[in-house]
Amino acid sequence: MSGRLATVELLSEGTLEHLAESLVELDQFVVAEMAELFSSEPWLTRHFAMPLPDKWNLSCVATEGREVTAFVIGSRIAPDTGYIHRFVVAPAARSKGVGSKLLDFFHSKAGALGLNRIFLEVNRHNSGAVKFYRKNRYLACDDEQIRNYLIMRDKLEEAKLGDSFYVEEGFPDEKCVMQRMIR
Ligand SMILES: CC(C)(COP(=O)(O)OP(=O)(O)OC[C@H]1O[C@@H](n2cnc3c(N)ncnc32)[C@H](O)[C@@H]1OP(=O)(O)O)[C@@H](O)C(=O)NCCC(=O)NCCS
Repeated sequence: MSGRLATVELLSEGTLEHLAESLVELDQFVVAEMAELFSSEPWLTRHFAMPLPDKWNLSCVATEGREVTAFVIGSRIAPDTGYIHRFVVAPAARSKGVGSKLLDFFHSKAGALGLNRIFLEVNRHNSGAVKFYRKNRYLACDDEQIRNYLIMRDKLEEAKLGDSFYVEEGFPDEKCVMQRMIR
C-alpha cells in the first residue's frame, strides 16, 4: 500500500457491494488496534449498509484497487449539520496526508449539500486523532454545544450502530465532541 490517494470517491450502495469485505477488515483491524480508545464494536457489512440521512452523499472512501486505504462514514443529523460516524486511515497509509485529503473531500460534499457544521466524537486520549482534527480546524465543543449536539444525535437512533444512548446515561468523560464550521 503506497498511501497515495489512488482514488477518492463517494461510497455508494453499489461500491459498498465491492468494498464491503475490505471495509469490514480495515475497521476490525483498527478497532482492535485502538481497543483502549474505541468504545464501539467493529462494524459488519450491515452497519456499513445501514441507511442514514444523506449517508450516500457524504461518506467516502480512498481505494487502491479493491483495497480500502481510508474511509469516512458521515450522515446529516439536522438540516444544516453533518456528523462523522467513523474515520479510519489504514496504518500503512497514515501521516501521508490521506486523512486530510479525505476530510477535504468530505467537507466539499457536505458544503454542496448545504451543511454548514460538522460534529464528531473522539476519545480525548486519542492524541493523534485529536491533533489531526485540530489541524483540520475542528474545535472542542463547550457544554452548551454538546447539549445541542446530543439532542440531534439522539434523533439519529445511533443505538442501532452499537453505541450507547448518551443523553440518558450521561456523557462519558473520555469523549470529546468536536465541531467545525464549513461555510
Ligand atoms: C487520525 C487519522 C484519521 C489521521 O489520518 P492521517 O492520514 O494519518 O492524517 P494526515 O496525514 O492527513 O495528517 C497528519 C497530521 O495529523 C496529526 N496526526 C495524525 N496522526 C497522528 C499521531 N498518531 N500522532 C500525532 N499527530 C498525528 C498531525 O498533526 C499530523 O501532521 P504532522 O505529520 O505534520 O505532524 C489516522 O491516524 C487514523 O486512522 N487513526 C486511527 C483511527 C482513528 O483514531 N480515527 C479517528 C477516530 S474519531
